Amino acid sequence: MTAADFVVVANRLPVDRVEGPDGEEIWRTSPGGLVAALEPMMRNVNGAWVGWAGQADVELAPFEAGGIRLIPVALSAEEVAEYYEGFANDTIWPLYHDVIAPPQYHREWWDAYVTVNRRFAEAAAAAAAPEGTVWVHDYQLQLVPQMVRELRPDVTIGYFHHIPFPAHGLYAQLPWRDQVLRGLLGADVIGFQRAQDATYFLTAVRRRLRYEVKGPHVAVPEGEGTRTALARAFPISIDTTPYLELAAREDVRARAAEIRASLGNPKRILLGVDRLDYTKGIRHRIKAYGELLAEGRLKVEDVTLVQVASPSRERVDAYVHLRDEIELAVSRINGDTDTMGHSAIRYLHQGYPREEMVALYLAADVMLVTALRDGMNLVAKEYVATRVDDRGVLVLSEFTGAADELRQAVRVNPHDIEGLKDAIMTAVEMPPAEQGRRMRSLRRRVLDNDVDAWSSSFLAALSEVRGR
Ligand code: G6P
Repeated sequence: MTAADFVVVANRLPVDRVEGPDGEEIWRTSPGGLVAALEPMMRNVNGAWVGWAGQADVELAPFEAGGIRLIPVALSAEEVAEYYEGFANDTIWPLYHDVIAPPQYHREWWDAYVTVNRRFAEAAAAAAAPEGTVWVHDYQLQLVPQMVRELRPDVTIGYFHHIPFPAHGLYAQLPWRDQVLRGLLGADVIGFQRAQDATYFLTAVRRRLRYEVKGPHVAVPEGEGTRTALARAFPISIDTTPYLELAAREDVRARAAEIRASLGNPKRILLGVDRLDYTKGIRHRIKAYGELLAEGRLKVEDVTLVQVASPSRERVDAYVHLRDEIELAVSRINGDTDTMGHSAIRYLHQGYPREEMVALYLAADVMLVTALRDGMNLVAKEYVATRVDDRGVLVLSEFTGAADELRQAVRVNPHDIEGLKDAIMTAVEMPPAEQGRRMRSLRRRVLDNDVDAWSSSFLAALSEVRGR
C-alpha cells in the first residue's frame, strides 16, 4: 500500500460496521461530531484514516469508502470493555466533563488504554509517508502523539481535543495525570475547543511537569535540548454546505410542514437533539419544561417538545441509569399533561439521517441546547446553518464551547431551573423581528467560520510550528 502524506487517527472510522438482520455486513456513518467535522476535509487530500470499525473481534484489511482510505484497528471484546467503555468513557469522559458522573479509576483499564493507544500509534506510523503529517483526535487516544513521535520522529504531529479539558483541581484526580500530559505533548500542536481548555492544559503542564510555558508555547525536553509545542484554541465547526442545500430543497421543506402537521400544528415546537448522554442536560431541560406545563405558563395544546436522544454507549452503567431516568421523567410528564390530541413530549430514542434532521430543524421554533458541559456542540451550529429563513431561537448553555461564539443565542445556566424556565419562555415568546435580528448575526458567525476554516487554521499552525 502506498504511504499517505496525511494520516488521521481517531477512535472511530467514519463508518461503523454493523450486522444486519441476517448477519450481513452493513456500514453506516459513525455517531458524534468528530466524524462529521473531519470527513469533508479528508475527501480533498491524499490521506488515510486509522480507526476502529465499532465492533469487537473483527479483523479487516484496509479498504476505501467514499473516496477515503480506511485502515481498521481491531479491538478484542475485552479491549472494548476496558479501553473504550472503561477508560475512555467511564474514566476520562466523566472526569473531563467536570465529574457530572463519578469517574471510575481502574488500573486494568489504564493498561488496556496504553496497549490500544500503542496499536493505533503503530498503525499510524506504518501508514505515514516520510516527512508526512499525522493528525490524532480526541480523548480516546491521548498517548498516541508521543508514541508516534518515538516511532517516527520525521513526521509532523497534530492533536485535537474535541471535548473539554478540566480545571487542574479536577484533572489532578487522574492517577495517570503525568503520563497523559506527556502523551499529548508528543504533538507539535495541541488544539482545544475553547481558550479556557488550553489554559487549563497549560496550567497542568506547568504545575505537574514543571516545563517552561510561555503564552501558548511549551518547551518540551527532547534529547539535550527542547522542542516547542503549541497549545491553543481552534473552535471546531460544521460543513455548512449540505445544511444550506437541504434547507433550500422543496421536499425537505414539505417534510418540515408534514412534521408540524403530524404533531397537531402546535403554536410552538421545541426541539432537543442529543446523543443520550449525561453531559447534555436532557433531564434539566425536561424538568424545566414539565414545570412550565404544570404551572400553566405553557399549555399542552400550544407546545410540543420533540426530544431526539440517539442511543449511545449503552453498555456503560451511567448511560443505562440515565436512560431510565429520562424515560421515567418523559412518561410522567406526558401522563400528567397529555390530551387525546396533544402530547407534551415526543421522545425518540433513535438516530436519523441528515435530511430528516434538517426538516426537524426547520420545523422547530426553539432549539434547546442545555448541556452541563460540552466541548463545542455542533447541533447548535447545524440548527443555525439550517435556518435560511432567519427564524427560530437558539437557547444555548453557557457551558458549551459554542457559547463563546454564538453570542446572540438566549444564554442559560442549565443548573438554574428557574432561569432555564424563563429562557424557554423568552424563546417561545420572542417576536419575529427579534428572532431575525439574532438569527442573522448567528448565521454570519457560523457561515464565516465553517469546518474548512477550522482545519485550515489548525494545519497552518502545524506547519508554522514545524517550520521553526
Ligand atoms: C463525542 C466524542 C467523539 C465520539 C462521539 C460519539 O463527539 O468527542 O470522540 O466519537 O462523541 O461517541 P462514541 O463513543 O459512540 O464514539
